[in-house]
Amino acid sequence: MAKKVLIMGGLGNGSVIAHAIADANKRGYEELICAGFINDRDNTSEIEGFPVHGGLKDIPRLLDEGYFFINTIFKVGGQKERIALFESLNIPDERLATFVHPMAYVAPNVELSPGCVIMPNVSVSSGTKFGKCCRVMVGATIGHNSVIGDYSFFAANCCTGAYLKIGKAVTVSLNACIREYVEIGNYATVGMGAVVLENIGEGEVWAGNPAKLLKKVE
Ligand SMILES: CC(C)(COP(=O)(O)OP(=O)(O)OC[C@H]1O[C@@H](n2cnc3c(N)ncnc32)[C@H](O)[C@@H]1OP(=O)(O)O)[C@@H](O)C(=O)NCCC(=O)NCCS
Repeated sequence: MAKKVLIMGGLGNGSVIAHAIADANKRGYEELICAGFINDRDNTSEIEGFPVHGGLKDIPRLLDEGYFFINTIFKVGGQKERIALFESLNIPDERLATFVHPMAYVAPNVELSPGCVIMPNVSVSSGTKFGKCCRVMVGATIGHNSVIGDYSFFAANCCTGAYLKIGKAVTVSLNACIREYVEIGNYATVGMGAVVLENIGEGEVWAGNPAKLLKKVE
């Protein structure tokens, strides 16, 4: 039987993932169905046709009711607080849903930890390992034999080279690309369209072609 998944979040990343799961169902994918959202912010009972089942305080009850979860609560530069909040909820790993859209290519020896989302037209090459709750948005291309930390986010159409070491909660923005063997520290951000040729330190924001340090977020 399909697992019923609730998306923690709302319009944006959350809603595009909800619709991608519904689209996958139309294509015969049966592992998950999107049962709706967990949302404290928008004071609404539905988001784009999916019901809101409650807020973060309702998670213990919703765990008892058998739901699975995908976390999309995210802000560029604001990940530390959001991850601390998510981890304080103590959702067991086995109740984090992993979603791979049927139009994605994920090499057979790729490792996806619980809670990862792989959207349509993504390609993930062989030997790459993802930590928990990573999201790879439409059209992104992830190179081979890379190691990616928990909670990292790859925006649409970014392209990463091989043998990367990417830390925890790194954001790779729209259409950015990263040269092979580069190392990126925890909580760093690669800006839209950046061409990254050098290692990036923890909490640093880099942008441009070739990418340069824009600022460091404490
Ligand atoms: C890199 C980024 C995080 C910087 O955001 P910010 O801190 O708000 O920066 P600002 O917009 O204030 O810009 C600061 C400077 O950097 C420049 N800059 C910002 N983003 C840039 C980019 N991607 N490439 C080149 N220069 C950039 C600005 O022109 C500005 O330059 P100036 O000081 O000479 O005027 C942001 O531009 C970005 O890329 N966000 C990710 C968007 C994305 O992919 N969203 C998808 C999520 S679904």
